[in-house]
Amino acid sequence: MRLYVKNVIALFAMAAIAVAAAPSGSFPAKRLKEVDARIDTLLKAMTLEEKIGQMTQVTIDVVSKGADGRDEPHAVDTAKLRDAILRYHVGSILNVGPSFYSVAHWHEVISAIQDVALKESRLSIPILYGIDAVHGANYTEGATLFPQSIALAATWDPGILRRVGEITAFEVRASGIPWNFHPVLDLGRQPLWPRLWETYGEDVTLAKTLGLAYMDGLMGQDMSAREHLAPCLKHYAGYSMPLSGKDRTPAWIDERMMREYSLPTFEAAVRAGAPTVMVNSGEINGIPGHANYHLLTEILKQEWEFDGFVVSDWEDIKRLHTRDRVADSQEEAVRLAVMAGVDMSMVPNDFSFYTLLLDLVNNGKIPHSRIDDAVRRILRVKFLVGLFDNPYPDQSMAATFASPEWTVFNRKTAQESMTLLKNERGILPLDKDVRVLVTGPTANLLHVLNSGWTITWQGDNESLYPKNKPTILRAIQAKIGEGRVTYVAGSTFDALTDVDRAVREAAGADVIIACLGEKAYCETPGNVNDLTLEKAQLDLVDELSKTGKPIVLVLVEGRPRIIHRIVDRVQGIVLGFLPGMEGGSAIADVLFGDVNPSGKLPVSYPKYPNSLTLYDCKPAEVADGNTYDPEFRFGYGLSYTMFAYSDLVLDRPILDGKDSLVVSVTVGNTGQVPGKEVVQLYVTDLYRSVTPPIRELKAFRKIDLQPGERKTVTFALREADLTFIGREYKRIAEKGKFRVTIDRLSQEFELR
Ligand code: GLC
Repeated sequence: MRLYVKNVIALFAMAAIAVAAAPSGSFPAKRLKEVDARIDTLLKAMTLEEKIGQMTQVTIDVVSKGADGRDEPHAVDTAKLRDAILRYHVGSILNVGPSFYSVAHWHEVISAIQDVALKESRLSIPILYGIDAVHGANYTEGATLFPQSIALAATWDPGILRRVGEITAFEVRASGIPWNFHPVLDLGRQPLWPRLWETYGEDVTLAKTLGLAYMDGLMGQDMSAREHLAPCLKHYAGYSMPLSGKDRTPAWIDERMMREYSLPTFEAAVRAGAPTVMVNSGEINGIPGHANYHLLTEILKQEWEFDGFVVSDWEDIKRLHTRDRVADSQEEAVRLAVMAGVDMSMVPNDFSFYTLLLDLVNNGKIPHSRIDDAVRRILRVKFLVGLFDNPYPDQSMAATFASPEWTVFNRKTAQESMTLLKNERGILPLDKDVRVLVTGPTANLLHVLNSGWTITWQGDNESLYPKNKPTILRAIQAKIGEGRVTYVAGSTFDALTDVDRAVREAAGADVIIACLGEKAYCETPGNVNDLTLEKAQLDLVDELSKTGKPIVLVLVEGRPRIIHRIVDRVQGIVLGFLPGMEGGSAIADVLFGDVNPSGKLPVSYPKYPNSLTLYDCKPAEVADGNTYDPEFRFGYGLSYTMFAYSDLVLDRPILDGKDSLVVSVTVGNTGQVPGKEVVQLYVTDLYRSVTPPIRELKAFRKIDLQPGERKTVTFALREADLTFIGREYKRIAEKGKFRVTIDRLSQEFELR
């Protein structure tokens, strides 16, 4: 019997007598009871040093070969690894080196780590390895890389999100990793923010529905199963709304706005059993996320009874001292964060957290009870994710890794994420016998389809991208034949290049396909000073529009860059956001009619840089000359067919608190081709004690319709769907009149 199994079994033999009170909370009580009994035993056996080690997470570089741990090809440095695990009792490791690893190398890495933890440490507690698998197993070579979250949100299809979660979980587990730092449940309500593309858009109902579906795909019914894993909700909370639009700069979000917009997605996921939460790197109302006791303990752990653990974001405890200046020393920074409710520190480049926290406890500045609480939470997740039973990679999973059927699903997902924003005189879909000029900076690159968290952190190393995946240009050539396609870049992302040649070549083309947008970026490096798309790209379209040839604009970008100057100069607009590794093919599929686009905007698409009103704005924002006047509104998207709405019916004029009100509407496909439509139900509270949004999405459903087919779709509205955060910061419902709106139809009812 291997040493570690004996140790752990020995500890559990004593567990039978320790019966922990199973507190109610976010984990199933039965599972919690089983696990807490085993943890009681383990906690009793652990030294303070071993406990604090469990709260310490370091990055893979710290235990890898090379002065900075980044020698290529990557290799674990066993001496460094032993130092981390045997001397500092580290309980978690994260991340990847300079670029992705093969499945085989991940297995070497994870096995080497677990060997030291299980066979050489005193208590054989397995290491919890965490990774950012934000759009598939993006740090494992050859993985299925899906559209990024904002593009997935444009599908408005929870079934797609759940399947993406399932496949992501399988390929991350196949890499030997049981913990994914995703989903991001922040709302995308600040279009300048460089991480908008990691969100599911600006609306609570859409983000909550899609985010929970994705999480369900990751976790399954039991996250210890070989094809499921532990998700990590991030970044809790309010990180996505920096006032300046620059990443990690101050946000001013009062309690009512926090509870109305920032918290609901997290609360729903916690109550659905999410095991870990990562902290907001920024600050809210002058309080850094990592020192926010109200959010981390009073709301998350007390009000919501969260049973899992809170992990810091990258080096953010240190930043309480070095950046935010709320701690006059690193030791004070550690004390502030741990007492606020942070259970694990993503230190991640050294062992300072371990030594400082040990001193703080030994000097009585942090109580042992706080350490025991944090370690219990961490060990709960290690047990519930199956680490004590299966700490090593499952070699059998590699055979199904990146299966062809998942590539087919990925392409369908990218197709469903395509949003048709303009189609003047039905220029789209294009015939396959047309001659096209393809131009623009995003036409012939793969990194623009994937962006950050792809192979490398910034995702911008084109040379590392797979050679067998098509760019937009290559996909168009494959679709209609290279002989019909001329390519002239015309501009880089921010400078005109061979625009004159592009103009000349346009003469020989029937249609110009201008591919614009953003290069890859991740986090703070993606900050911009102007939401308007770079002038050179707009100039390119201006010059090409003078040829008189019709132009189809293809946009791949992480956020809605302003294109107002050229909107009237193009005849068609297809928005792909960041459609992933099959995005080039999906764009060609839509352009040439092999797919009828069905995407809907998950964010408002602004018309002007200083006019960023969102769809659920307040009455004052649409009064006295103010308007919600985006280029394209939230929920908007065209099709190659037409849909007609009729017969909006409420089954009662009055809803009392206990019942539900059934809303039905009929949708018909009045065009010539099959299509998918997202039926969107909005509610307006006509009068209430806190100013009511002019409308709020409350339900939606994506349906398929054949030409001529009609379907009646029904929704149930309950009082719980009509609540808001009242003046006392509590979620309440107020009686009165409400309006239901679907498409252009509306009906009123009264809540009594
Ligand atoms: C980063 C990101 C966070 C990520 C973490 C680990 O700074 O803010 O989203 O999960 O560090 O890579």
